[in-house]
Amino acid sequence: MNTSFSSNNHAVTTDSATDAQISLRHISKVFPGRGGWLNKITGQASSDFVAIEDIHLDIEHNTFVSIIGPSGCGKSTLLNIIAGLSSATSGEVIINGEIVDKPGPDRGMVFQSYALMPWMTVQDNIKFAVETVYSKMHVKQQQRVIKENIQLVGLTGAEKKRPHELSGGMRQRVGIARALAINPQILLMDEPFGALDALTRGFLQDEIERIWEQQRKTAIMITHSIDEALLLSDRIVMMTKGPAARIDEVLDVPFPRPRDRNTVENHPAYLKLKKEMEDHLYRETRAVEEAQIKP
Ligand SMILES: Nc1ncnc2c1ncn2[C@@H]1O[C@H](COP(=O)(O)OP(=O)(O)OP(=O)(O)O)[C@@H](O)[C@H]1O
Ligand SMILES: [Mg+2]
Repeated sequence: MNTSFSSNNHAVTTDSATDAQISLRHISKVFPGRGGWLNKITGQASSDFVAIEDIHLDIEHNTFVSIIGPSGCGKSTLLNIIAGLSSATSGEVIINGEIVDKPGPDRGMVFQSYALMPWMTVQDNIKFAVETVYSKMHVKQQQRVIKENIQLVGLTGAEKKRPHELSGGMRQRVGIARALAINPQILLMDEPFGALDALTRGFLQDEIERIWEQQRKTAIMITHSIDEALLLSDRIVMMTKGPAARIDEVLDVPFPRPRDRNTVENHPAYLKLKKEMEDHLYRETRAVEEAQIKP
């Protein structure tokens, strides 16, 4: 039996034999219906909405996991709970043996909408994160961390630009640099390339693969792209449609690393995995459409 304690997070006792870095234990999220006075105004009662139900998953250290599922099934809801930005209605997120229920420097988040501060330069957006997490770090050291991460994502020369002066791809590079600059153990990404054109998306996928090979951080990425998931992941979590979405299946991706598009697409397991994912997404998305058509 392992017992862990932390000053910030709750102590937890685990009997688990796995060496999982992240354990999602029976997580459910119910969004409450609008009740009380609002019902009186609208004349309509709305019931509680079960977004995700009984999500149970172990993620080992240095693993890249993708989550894929039909739109609206609850992927962001789950990632936000892991990030500590939202709380589960029931169940627990355990990271390194401790229950977490708020954001922490062990997790860096990359958002689809970049979430940069528009009045700050590239450098200052990253600096803000570094200063917040490493307030006691010497200024020279902070500057080194900022410079290294700007270099890492290929933004050297754009340090003084503000977000409105950058392309979407460059903005997301800032988002990635900001997340990595706090040196989190875990990188969380919610459709990081969803807003980008196909070519830019491809470039950034290659960058993430390159950076992941260097740093091998545990990563959880939400995506709608089958090819993106196959290029980057060690495991792919396929979710069912909502409401009460759950994990349908977890695929192991056997492609050797380092990876590039050509070697991945020529691997003997590629077509079978791709077909399995396509069938899953088609089935679940069709079920969503059918549910919407029913009166
Ligand atoms: N704050 C909220 N209050 C009520 N319902 C919510 C709230 N946030 C999300 N939902 C509902 O929960 C479900 C899951 O939403 P979520 O954003 O997690 O889906 P998703 O899988 O990330 O979708 P997408 O692929 O479109 O990004 C949706 O039906 C959504 O309408
Ligand atoms: Mg989402």
